[in-house]
Amino acid sequence: TLLKSRTKRILEIVVAMGLLQDVTGPLSQQLSHLSTASQVGVIAGGALFLAVFLNVLQQVLFRNSEEPPVIFHWFPLIGSTVTYGMDPPRFFRENRAKHGDIFTFILLGKKTTVYLGPAGNEFILNGKLKDVSAEDIYTVLTTPVFGKDVVYDCPNSKLMEQKKFMKVALTTSAFQSYVPIIADEVSNYFKKCPDFKGKSGVSNIPKNMAEITIFTASHSLQGSEIRNKFDESLADLYHDLDMGFSAINFTLHWAPLPWNNRRDHAQRTISKVYMDTIKERRAAGKSDQQDIMWHLMNSTYKNGVKVPDHEIAHMMIALLMAGQHSSSSTSSWIMLRLAARPDIMEALYREQVEALGADLPPLTLEDLAKLPLNQAIIKETLRLNAPIHSILRAVKSPMPVPGTKYVIPTSHVLLSAAGVSASDPAFFPQPDEWEPTRWNKDSPLAPRLATTTGEEEEKIDYGYGLVSKGANSPYLPFGAGRHRCIGEQFANVQLQTITAMVVRMFNLRNVDGSDKVIGTDYASLFSRPLEPANIHWEKRDW
Ligand code: HEM
Repeated sequence: TLLKSRTKRILEIVVAMGLLQDVTGPLSQQLSHLSTASQVGVIAGGALFLAVFLNVLQQVLFRNSEEPPVIFHWFPLIGSTVTYGMDPPRFFRENRAKHGDIFTFILLGKKTTVYLGPAGNEFILNGKLKDVSAEDIYTVLTTPVFGKDVVYDCPNSKLMEQKKFMKVALTTSAFQSYVPIIADEVSNYFKKCPDFKGKSGVSNIPKNMAEITIFTASHSLQGSEIRNKFDESLADLYHDLDMGFSAINFTLHWAPLPWNNRRDHAQRTISKVYMDTIKERRAAGKSDQQDIMWHLMNSTYKNGVKVPDHEIAHMMIALLMAGQHSSSSTSSWIMLRLAARPDIMEALYREQVEALGADLPPLTLEDLAKLPLNQAIIKETLRLNAPIHSILRAVKSPMPVPGTKYVIPTSHVLLSAAGVSASDPAFFPQPDEWEPTRWNKDSPLAPRLATTTGEEEEKIDYGYGLVSKGANSPYLPFGAGRHRCIGEQFANVQLQTITAMVVRMFNLRNVDGSDKVIGTDYASLFSRPLEPANIHWEKRDW
């Protein structure tokens, strides 16, 4: 079969060459009459043709059996960049059907090996430090945005300590203080926002959810001084900083382009805002703060060095940026899903009335624990609309893939896409249905995850606290391994509070009353709803 398909490919190439000959033959006779510019064009065309021909020939004739199959592509460098970029999940599913769980494609000239399914998640996300590196890939993008000496601009052991400082600040008592802050921010937002004047209307919800996310996160995690600055200067500066995260900056991060100049100016200005706030807090001797900034100001590295102010400032930026895209995209999807399913919106309202009382008292952390459907909304939305569709790692030493003859060389990049197994019918019955009740144990749609043996799941500490050892799960919206998200619990508290508050205040539906949900925008690094994503809202207590 292999021989047949290769012979077919060679025949196709020969036919293509013949056709080109038919076209170029008469053309070349007239070449002498053409201008120099046209000659240059013809030579460039010829060179391109040769490059395509050699690229195809190399794929057909010289396959390395020790490496995963390479997705067929006509053009070198471009490879499968366009088909991947248009719809990564579809790209993964289609190629998985053809090649299985492991395959390689060309992404902007780089051989990128995808390994899907739970075994692939484990192989990549739990890869050893000597084998895989996140910082080698991401530092060009993140360091100009976050600033020096944090996250991917320092050794991994230092990042693990930084994650620990941030994680230990996210305690139950901190969350208890965050829920009322978040709930107040949500209700004030809808009272003040001009998009929600009157009894009912239509709004492009991702824009509103982006604002609500930054207001709730900055107020709870970074304190009221920083939150108040978002009403003035900080929102625009953060927007400029955000532009530094465009995919094009993987190659043009260094270039003195207008958006990079604005990014650098914003980074310097925001850092100064944080550093000034730290100094003011120190001068005032405040000690009753529950926010992360306060914890970092009182943290010391293992080598005895207190965390310097510029690192605190840069971690503050990193925290807000890391959470902003993921939480804002997820909360937008939640609202869009609810608008498509008014029955679930009503069930959520009933759940609150029954669990908390008809007067719906001010929300607390303890109340959130009494609302299982409210919790399931977040789980189910992250199953189908996880904001991070691809996680990349550089390969630092050749990596044999257990159970196969493949060895992934250091010239490849590894790509993990846990979202593919989260929509695999082998694990989730009727996987394309957004059905939050599937997270009830007795639901016929309940996930078919690995059977538990009754024993405690094995845990590991990479340096930022205990996390489950196995990445061997089909459902990993918060990643796994040493780079696993530390914001999971905060994101859950934030998203559950926002959802519960919106349910108290509004009835949502699609503008056309249908049950359709808008498509996904994969143009930036984080996937999010295409815009405008308008929904119809109506206030409950008008
Ligand atoms: C890492 C998802 C919210 C802070 C990650 C990773 C994923 C993820 C998949 C792993 C990335 C990798 O392996 O390269 C999400 C989702 C969120 C969310 C789905 C919300 C729905 C947050 C929030 C914060 C946060 C709110 C901050 C409060 C971080 C940090 C890392 C991380 C610091 C560690 C990066 C590293 O170690 O390399 N997140 N995240 N995330 N996330 Fe989140």
